[in-house]
Amino acid sequence: MPYICVATTVNMAGGQPISIENLKKLRALTNKHGIKIILDMTRVAENAFFIQQREPGYAKKSVASIVKEICSLTDGATMSAKKDALVNIGGFLAMNDKNIYEEASNLVVVYEGLHTYGGLAGRDMEAMAIGILESVDDNHMKARVGQVIYLGENLKANGIPIVEPIGGHGVFIDAKKFLPHLAQNLYPAQTLAAELYVESGIRTMERGVVSAGRNSKTGKDYYPELELVRLTIPRRVYTQAHMDVICEAVVSVYKRRNKIKGLKMVYEPKYLRFFQAMFEKIN
Ligand SMILES: Cc1ncc(COP(=O)(O)O)c(C=O)c1O
Repeated sequence: MPYICVATTVNMAGGQPISIENLKKLRALTNKHGIKIILDMTRVAENAFFIQQREPGYAKKSVASIVKEICSLTDGATMSAKKDALVNIGGFLAMNDKNIYEEASNLVVVYEGLHTYGGLAGRDMEAMAIGILESVDDNHMKARVGQVIYLGENLKANGIPIVEPIGGHGVFIDAKKFLPHLAQNLYPAQTLAAELYVESGIRTMERGVVSAGRNSKTGKDYYPELELVRLTIPRRVYTQAHMDVICEAVVSVYKRRNKIKGLKMVYEPKYLRFFQAMFEKIN
């Protein structure tokens, strides 16, 4: 069965949330070619919020109704409930096709547990059910995205180069602009992430040459156009005052940016090096 997977609000900056207009066009095209659409609905509530804010004709629709409309245009979905659905573990797989459902519910017994719980504890499923309801509450979403925008605007007001428009789950700092004197082989985004951690204990994520990895045939590093540091904000954990602390820490590193000399990679794991690679500071 041919299928295409579409993700709700992307993890890497530079992409845009799904729009209903776009999804409708994709639906028409996939219908024509008999292709199923599988939605990665991990961040569907944030995506729906952006549709409400930006797409003509959606300002008066609720986040919940927009989520339903997105789902109605797709054939199935995967969900990591640790994100929009506000829980610390869990997820699910959903689909319209009864035959695929039967096959999937048989396979889940082999890999995870009975199809009624898929390896999850009852307590976690109850938390997820409540999380799903709360995640599509318009006020919750407004506050959640509002906090991220507050941080982004604050950074901008202090002259920090960030990616715009500001995202729903985090703010991306442009490390190439933050540390313009560092060549990409000195890992500018990784360097900035490390400096921020040393400065303040704030853990961020590199999205640049380390994340891009290397070509398995030539062994050469990929040099992506973007060198970004992602300040991802967990839901319902931090206050506005915490956002101010993050901003102060970033500004503090920015003030001494000219003295920062980059990193050297001293250990590289075989797979997904951005999770486990180790670096030394260049002095
Ligand atoms: C859109 C999207 N799908 C899936 C995942 C992965 O989820 P998990 O942490 O459960 O592997 C993420 C993680 O950030 C995500 O943003």
